[in-house]
Amino acid sequence: MDEDTYLLNFKGCNFERGLTDMDQLENLDNFEIRDEDVFIITYPKSGTIWTQQILSLIYYEDHRNRTSHMDSLDRAPFLEYNIRKVDFSKRPSPRLFCTHLPYYLAPNALKNNKNKIIYVYRNPKDVMISYFHFSKLMVTLEDAENIEQFMKRFLDGKVVGSLWFDHIRGWYEHRHSFNVLFMRYEDMKKDLRSAVLKICSFLEKELSDEAVDDVVRKATFRNMKSDPQANYDKFVREEVGARTEDGCFLRKGTIGDWKRHLTVEQSEMFDRIFQRKMKDIPLKFIWDVNEE
Ligand code: PPS
Repeated sequence: MDEDTYLLNFKGCNFERGLTDMDQLENLDNFEIRDEDVFIITYPKSGTIWTQQILSLIYYEDHRNRTSHMDSLDRAPFLEYNIRKVDFSKRPSPRLFCTHLPYYLAPNALKNNKNKIIYVYRNPKDVMISYFHFSKLMVTLEDAENIEQFMKRFLDGKVVGSLWFDHIRGWYEHRHSFNVLFMRYEDMKKDLRSAVLKICSFLEKELSDEAVDDVVRKATFRNMKSDPQANYDKFVREEVGARTEDGCFLRKGTIGDWKRHLTVEQSEMFDRIFQRKMKDIPLKFIWDVNEE
């Protein structure tokens, strides 16, 4: 099928056609932001759902102690994919949002440097592999026959979110226009408690030790996978549509899964492109679980 069946291009960035429309996208710029609003920003497959869960647990005691039954997806909904057609203006503050928007499409008011933004990034080989599997699962994304085919698409930016290199460069180079904390997926994976504490400190949220323990416990891969409010399984199957029975949003949640998928040639080709495109960006990446 032609890629335009799946991708909606708006001002140079690709969106998921099945989940948004031009009206929603055109209104983003004027989106009414409150100073207390908090944003999670990611390139797809970099730890969005995880950070949605962490922030929901930090902000909402009833999420932590399970006295309410709201999905993390509704606690921190996507700005550009208002799938459940929620009237955001009726939500009480502080509102949490998440988005895959590139820096240049972020609502204007975000540049006031007041709103707290958490930008989560992940080594792009793992992002690509996660994305490959996700494309096989979601009916709203173009399926890929094999890694070779998907890798070409990913490196050409012909995917939702467009080119990974542009996304991270844009947010990194414009970081001073925003109040943004950069978090690395791999650091969250290696030491979730420290990551949660760092996020709490940035958000100026003081939680008791027990509450922090609770956040950490409920944000582990294993616990999220078995938590219907956190794992999106129902959402994918009932609201979006799945191509296969066995795929899921929380697939593996590891560092370095790309090694099981890429040939040496593919990996080296990726490295060459990465080195060329990222040579002036000082962000460090973790490609292997044993790396510091
Ligand atoms: S999306 O579609 O952009 O919202 O996807 P996103 O949530 O950004 O990324 C999905 C990947 O994040 C992994 N994930 C986790 N890893 C470790 N621990 C926890 N708790 C966790 N929660 C989500 C998820 O498994 C996807 O990665 P892969 O490599 O496919 O498993």
